[in-house]
Amino acid sequence: MKIRKASNSDKGNISRLHIASIRKLCGSYYTQQQLNAWTSVLAPSVYDQALKEKLFLVAEDSQKDLLGIGILDFENTEVSAIYIHPDAVGKGVGSKLLNEIEKIARNNGIFEITVHSTLNAKGFYMARGYSEQELTFHNLPNGSKLECIRMLKILHKYAEQRH
Ligand SMILES: CC(C)(COP(=O)(O)OP(=O)(O)OC[C@H]1O[C@@H](n2cnc3c(N)ncnc32)[C@H](O)[C@@H]1OP(=O)(O)O)[C@@H](O)C(=O)NCCC(=O)NCCS
Repeated sequence: MKIRKASNSDKGNISRLHIASIRKLCGSYYTQQQLNAWTSVLAPSVYDQALKEKLFLVAEDSQKDLLGIGILDFENTEVSAIYIHPDAVGKGVGSKLLNEIEKIARNNGIFEITVHSTLNAKGFYMARGYSEQELTFHNLPNGSKLECIRMLKILHKYAEQRH
């Protein structure tokens, strides 16, 4: 498995993976209506801004098929997204993407990192050292809201002393 920066030519595959991941892996925590509203906006062009402004990583296998995506928002010091293809879950891809994101965050002087985790991914982030902060809501295009959990991880030892 290889992790690399995403490019514009990945947008179609990213969109397909993102939609498949939400539909297959988030369905037990969110309603069909929420899944529809959530995925309806995920056309390839929706990733343009993130590709320009954020660290956008993809994990791919030896055939160059996408296994997962991971996004770090430097400005807000947060993990914007980690989505794994449904056929690739439970094989360490999510952990590898998160490790890489945290390494790059540290190298850029980010001391604390947050994530607005989906309800289904809370256990994944807790197992990787994130602690639950508060319930938050992600606004969907149809006006409904997606319940999420803001989670926090301290990346530097000296930052730990402040809490
Ligand atoms: C959550 C997600 C990113 C995890 O990716 P993954 O590649 O399956 O995770 P890994 O294989 O690296 O698993 C790492 C560890 O977390 C555990 N884990 C994975 N998903 C978990 C979950 N939902 N709840 C509890 N533990 C979980 C694994 O058992 C594993 O534990 P181990 O290290 O003790 O063996 C993936 O399931 C996913 O894409 N979910 C749907 C999209 C989503 O909700 N993303 C989060 C957006 S904020």
